[in-house]
Amino acid sequence: MECCVIGTGYVGLVTGACLADMGNSVICVDRDNLKINKLSKGEIPIFEAGLEAIVTRCLKSGKLKFTTSTKEAVHVSTLIFITVDTPSDYQGYADLTHVDEVAGDIASVMNGYKIIINKSTVPVGTTRRVERVIEESLKEYHEFDVISNPEFLREGTAVSDFMKPARIVIGSGSQKAIMMMTDLYRKMNAPLLITDPVSAEMIKYASNAFLATKVSYINAIANICEVVGADVREVSLGMGYDERIGFEFLRAGPGFGGSCFPKDCRALLRIAGDYGYNFKLLEGVMDVNREQQLRTVDKIKRMAGGFDGKKIGVLGLAFKANTDDIRESPAVNIVSMVLSGGAEVSVYDPEAMENASEFIPEAKFAGDAYEVAAQADILVLLTEWDEFKWLDYTRIKELMNSPVLLDARNCLDPAVLRKIGYTYEGVGR
Ligand SMILES: NC(=O)c1ccc[n+]([C@@H]2O[C@H](COP(=O)([O-])OP(=O)(O)OC[C@H]3O[C@@H](n4cnc5c(N)ncnc54)[C@H](O)[C@@H]3O)[C@@H](O)[C@H]2O)c1
Repeated sequence: MECCVIGTGYVGLVTGACLADMGNSVICVDRDNLKINKLSKGEIPIFEAGLEAIVTRCLKSGKLKFTTSTKEAVHVSTLIFITVDTPSDYQGYADLTHVDEVAGDIASVMNGYKIIINKSTVPVGTTRRVERVIEESLKEYHEFDVISNPEFLREGTAVSDFMKPARIVIGSGSQKAIMMMTDLYRKMNAPLLITDPVSAEMIKYASNAFLATKVSYINAIANICEVVGADVREVSLGMGYDERIGFEFLRAGPGFGGSCFPKDCRALLRIAGDYGYNFKLLEGVMDVNREQQLRTVDKIKRMAGGFDGKKIGVLGLAFKANTDDIRESPAVNIVSMVLSGGAEVSVYDPEAMENASEFIPEAKFAGDAYEVAAQADILVLLTEWDEFKWLDYTRIKELMNSPVLLDARNCLDPAVLRKIGYTYEGVGR
């Protein structure tokens, strides 16, 4: 099928590359010239496992192209995906400026029947809103359908999540659009839920808010574990064996972050409020998340013996492992608060240093974990990259000023570290 994907970021690039790899002809559009130039040469602007090989393969086969021209892409495509960012505005609502712009752009160059597929995470009613923008901006009459098809991929495992989704949700009342979308996704062999657009839009927010709730729930349990002397890792394990609960998203840590959970929780709170529902549960989830970051800062301060004149070594800046994304990263927030407290902070992340440098310019960006540890009064592990699990902690101890370690992701073995001679603390254990 002929597809175009407008907004070539984390979601757009993965969507475009995977659809092309499935045999469709895909043109990815972005207004960022630099990004499009790089992508046209096969250079990937983000870190995402497996993506580069797919982009290279599909560029070579001619199935995937990149452009800054919406007109060029829309003219040759029937399926038009919107994958632009929908960040929080200053009140917490999803800012639909880019979605509206793209809808207007599509309308102004439409040359036949098109299905406009919204993959960006958007509030209920946006499918209708995009329809209206297109109706108002059409230069001449063309038949079109706007549908909701929320994306559930996770950064770090985006390619396999896209190719093997747990479910595909299509929100549309148009039989023609539903048939074409069913055909597009046929090869994926995933449960297909066809519903109305408002329910589809709601499914995305409800899913993300639920996962965020699991994270805050286990963090709250971890805080109780710390005072009663239980180990939250054992508690999570014992809970997870219950199929009604499951193991996923039950890892205590410094709180959730990233480009989705915080903004989607804020947006859902706003949607609920606008319709007269006080979503206290979700407010609690967000409160626990804020507190978890503050608790981590307090713990660092206590373990380091204050911030004044102290050198804090930090491992990890990305909001989670296997991505270079630092949007609303708890690690970056925590480093920022520690810097404000007056400590000297040295940081290292395998992929997210460049993105983070703009937000914490006062930090010292080290070449590796050992450089971070040199003369540190405390080492804090904030992102669960695999490579941090296999460091030579005996060597690190020798490099440090004092062997104090806060494992804010519970990914190290306390017994081993204590045996080496560390003062070790995790979260909820
Ligand atoms: N990142 C994720 O893990 C994830 C997962 C599921 C859903 N989502 C949702 O998908 C959407 C996109 O997220 P993302 O992380 O890919 O965002 P992103 O910021 O990485 O990418 C958005 C891209 O859109 C481009 N863009 C913005 N306005 C444009 C315009 N008018 N014309 C052309 N290009 C334009 C930007 O230049 C950017 O490259 C969001 O709504 C997000 O909530 C994200």
